[in-house]
This record gives sequence, structure tokens and C-alpha cells, in this order.
Amino acid sequence: MTDLTINNISAPHYLCPLCQQALSLVGKSFICAKKHSFDQAKEGYVNLLPVQHKHSKDPGDNKAMVNARRNFLDNGFYQPLIAKLLSVYQEYGDQSQAVFDAGCGEGYYTHQHKNLTNTVYGTDIAKNAIRIAAKRYKDCFFSVGTLAQLPFENNFFGWMISIYAPILETEFSRVLNTNGYLLTVTPAENHLYELKQLIYRDAKRHDTSKTPIKSLTLISEQRINYTMNFTQSTDLINLLAMTPFAFKASEQLIEELKAKNSFACQADFLIRLYQKTA
Ligand SMILES: C[S@@+](CC[C@H](N)C(=O)[O-])C[C@H]1O[C@@H](n2cnc3c(N)ncnc32)[C@H](O)[C@@H]1O
Ligand SMILES: [Zn+2]
Repeated sequence: MTDLTINNISAPHYLCPLCQQALSLVGKSFICAKKHSFDQAKEGYVNLLPVQHKHSKDPGDNKAMVNARRNFLDNGFYQPLIAKLLSVYQEYGDQSQAVFDAGCGEGYYTHQHKNLTNTVYGTDIAKNAIRIAAKRYKDCFFSVGTLAQLPFENNFFGWMISIYAPILETEFSRVLNTNGYLLTVTPAENHLYELKQLIYRDAKRHDTSKTPIKSLTLISEQRINYTMNFTQSTDLINLLAMTPFAFKASEQLIEELKAKNSFACQADFLIRLYQKTA
């Protein structure tokens, strides 16, 4: 495998999505032995999503959702979640092994895992999101791709995170090394309950009874619950736009939210840590 160095950062190790052979960075293109070639975008990411894996013209979160999430996260409302993620990583993770953020969006959580010795990767199917991530966080490797077929060798990562993104058990287990960890964040029972109450007549609480991953060992399960106090309606509108229920909101409700200058809503996260034990 070629190990080139760009600005003192070694080149990423990807597999060709068409033939699964190693890709080498030659100039500005990633090329495999069969001469399949993928250009590096000017922002530094590479698009490894072959057209046949693309089920729509613009897959993943759309631009509006991506921008809303970026603005919301930038205002620190999920800071307690980040603090928890990093403390679990410090406690359990081997800090020198490669890290992967599966469905990384704009890379907000991805880059927080970068340290002096590890390499950090993020993949998302939404090009809009990856473009922003690569532009902002130059010390991480970002690619457009599908979680259903990851462009990495078996046992490549020591630490993986999946935050509010699809969990593809077989692929995740394949790329995780033995004794490596996968941390997932999913909504706990009361996540955004107060916001949902504005939208649905009988707002449901999240069902957290399912343990989605069978092939890994569940090591710990923790919940973080706190109240977010909104004093600017733009934050509330961004939060709504990030959610899967945004499209249910009527024009009238959006106008009502815009007029609110105080609103309290719970953030409620379920953090599960799994290990590949065999
Ligand atoms: C709710 S967002 C979370 C993004 C990021 N983890 C965060 O918390 O900021 C879910 C992400 O999963 C991505 N996604 C959905 N299906 C995917 C797939 N099959 N392959 C890769 N990414 C996917 C979406 O494009 C979106 O960026
Ligand atoms: Zn190839």
C-alpha cells in the first residue's frame, strides 16, 4: 500500500468501490490496480459512490437539513453529548488506532476525535455534507460513500461512531478490528418530546427497547438527558429542520415557532458501546 504524505498527514487508505482493491493517491486521483480512478475534490474529499449505488440524484440529507444541523450544532446545544462521547473514547479507545464516523454528516463529531497519533475518517452519502466537512476539518479524511459497502479493509478501525445514522451491522462488524469498539447514539425516550408535542396530537416517545446489533457485545448503555432552553427562534427552526418530522410541520406551526423567544425542550440520548469480542 502506498503511504504518501501530504502536509505531514499520511494519505488515506481506501479500497476501490468497484473492485475492492487498494486505492493509491497519485497526484489528485485515487487509482486502483485495475485503473479505476476517483478524483480528489478541491476540498480534499473523494467521492467513492459509484453511480450504480446511488439510488437518487442527491442521496442523504438535503442542503437545507445539512445547513440547519450545522448551525444548530455550532451553537453548542449538543455539547454535553460531545463531552460524553469523548470521555468514553478516552476511557476505552486505543488512541493510536484509526477512527471512523459512519454517516458523519458535516463532520461535527468526527473531527473532535482527532489527536496527534490517530487517523480519523468520515463517510456520508450526502455530498453536500461531506463538502462542508472536508472544507472545515482538514486533519480528517472524508469520503462520499454508502454505509452498505464501506471502502475499507477488514479490521481497519479500532473505534467507530454512529450518531443518529443508519447502522449497517455486517459492514460495521467487518471493518472493526477484534477488541475494537462501536459507539452508537440513538434517541432515548424523551428526545425532543416537547417539540414533537407541538407537531403531533398524540406525540409518541421513542421506543428504545430494540438492541440493533447482535454480532457485537454490548459493553455499556448510558443515557444523557438535559433541557435545552431556546431564546432565539432561529435555533428552534434549525432544530425542527434537522428532524425527520420536519415535513409534518404546517406553515402555521413554523410561523408560531418563529414568534417564540423562549422554549424548553429535552435532549435525551442513548449511548451504547459495543465491542467486537471475537
Ligand atoms: C441525522 S444525520 C446525522 C449526521 C451526523 N452523524 C450528526 O449527528 O451530525 C444522518 C446522516 O446519515 C447519512 N446517511 C443516511 N443513509 C446513509 C447511507 N446509506 N450511507 C451513508 N450515509 C447515510 C445522511 O446523509 C445523514 O448525513
Ligand atoms: Zn478498482
